[in-house]
Amino acid sequence: MNRARRPLIAGNWKMNLGGPEAIELAEALVKASKPCANVDVVICPPFTALAAVASEVDGTHVGLGAQNLHPKTSGAFTGEVSAPMLLAAGCQWVIVGHSERRQFFGDTDAFVAEKTQAAIAAKLAPIVCIGELEREREAGHTLQVLERQVNAVLAILAANPEAPMAIAYEPVWAIGTGKAATAADAEEAHAFVRKLLASASETLAARVRVLYGGSVTGANARELLACPNVDGALVGGASLTVEKFEPIFGAAHALTLS
Ligand code: 13P
Repeated sequence: MNRARRPLIAGNWKMNLGGPEAIELAEALVKASKPCANVDVVICPPFTALAAVASEVDGTHVGLGAQNLHPKTSGAFTGEVSAPMLLAAGCQWVIVGHSERRQFFGDTDAFVAEKTQAAIAAKLAPIVCIGELEREREAGHTLQVLERQVNAVLAILAANPEAPMAIAYEPVWAIGTGKAATAADAEEAHAFVRKLLASASETLAARVRVLYGGSVTGANARELLACPNVDGALVGGASLTVEKFEPIFGAAHALTLS
């Protein structure tokens, strides 16, 4: 299939695998993803494992991302980690505005925008997460929610349309539930996000990879990734073992050849 954008498959390890098991998994993934040359594979371990995993993946085709950042570069922000620190630890990517941060740690659209700006300024590629709650979908407000969340970062992204970056559409009701969006629902949301991006910049819309996240597995990856506006996946639970993650980036690679 002639895909418009190179697929990006990112694993969000969340608060898992912070010790030596992180290095083992990274090593196994470097090997397992070697044949998938048409796909960008990125792993996002917890902060404590970043430097160790960086030395494992450095110089390989596997990229490294963090799961969060603070918008300021340094200062009295106890417990926080800045974009320059993540760069120094070996990251190229950072997840911004994950729904778990929005729900449990008070990340607002405005704070997500500040973090996105800080990441881009530091030349870290943000993966900006958006997505509606179950009650918002049931009330028919999905597209409104996505529009609000995209608009919060749109000017920042449009000011840097050539910078590497991604948006992850993660419907909150699909995260960790085993209930992924259907391919049709995902494509509708992704096409809408693409249209919003195009309203600010055609270059941006053509370049930004829009990832789907929420209960992605080896069983549903191919169907989701085959949608024209689904450029990859942000994977939680199924990124924690090589056995579960490999079929997902393998499916992405296979689609580039079909
Ligand atoms: P699951 O793949 O475990 O549903 O998690 C998705 C997610 O939140 C990735 O950021």
